[in-house]
Amino acid sequence: MRFVAVTFLVGAISSISVESNSEGDALYAWKTYLTDPNNVLQSWDPTLNNPCTWFHVTCNGQNSIIRVDLGAANLSGTLVPQLGMLSNLQYLYVSNNSISGEIPSQLGNLTKLVSLGLENNQLNSQIPSSLGNLKSLRWMKLNSNKLSGEIPISVLKLIYWRNLQLLNVSDNQLAGTVHHIN
Ligand SMILES: *[C@@H]1O[C@H](CO)[C@@H](O)[C@H](O)[C@H]1NC(C)=O
Ligand SMILES: *[C@@H]1O[C@H](CO)[C@@H](O)[C@H](O)[C@H]1NC(C)=O
Ligand SMILES: *[C@@H]1O[C@H](CO)[C@@H](O)[C@H](O)[C@H]1NC(C)=O
Ligand SMILES: *[C@@H]1O[C@H](CO)[C@@H](O)[C@H](O)[C@H]1NC(C)=O
Repeated sequence: MRFVAVTFLVGAISSISVESNSEGDALYAWKTYLTDPNNVLQSWDPTLNNPCTWFHVTCNGQNSIIRVDLGAANLSGTLVPQLGMLSNLQYLYVSNNSISGEIPSQLGNLTKLVSLGLENNQLNSQIPSSLGNLKSLRWMKLNSNKLSGEIPISVLKLIYWRNLQLLNVSDNQLAGTVHHIN
């Protein structure tokens, strides 16, 4: 019986470290898609046990990532679908860089996200309708990019239900009429 208990404990510990590594793996996958002339991501080292010691990353008490702060870091490159795996993420700020390409629909899996700052970049996709799944979202800045298409109804519903309190989509290439909302 004692042997069984010890085996179970070892199993539990290894499953915890696998979980923290998967968030580090997701961020490291993103790093490989970024150009970082000022080496602000130098501490993003995948050989560390978890990403909580990396600069610009904040974790909760369970070693799960809750913030990524990369505003004005001179980064170019793209966002990646793997960001959708950061299941406890509350704040994602990548404002004032030169990030291009699309807003991955997988960001709609970040159900704890409170604040999304992607403004002042070169993002040139449509706004994914999956962002309407972000019921915790209070604040979303997408202004000053090259986004096209219409604002998805699912996102407008977040405003209507008063979840989302600030949405800035100014200075893009969006179609349709947008009333001033904040
Ligand atoms: C981004 O730039 C704007 C104006 O250019 C500035 O007001 C804002 O504080 C900057 N944000 C970050 C995170 O650097
Ligand atoms: C970004 O690059 C500009 C000049 O290219 C430099 O002045 C600035 O300090 C850099 N910002 C950071 C956060 O490294
Ligand atoms: C994440 O989002 C994508 C696209 O919105 C979806 O296809 C996928 O099933 C989601 N993954 C998880 C783990 O929820
Ligand atoms: C919205 O974005 C525009 C364009 O970048 C900016 O001038 C304006 O100050 C922003 N408004 C708010 C409330 O953030």
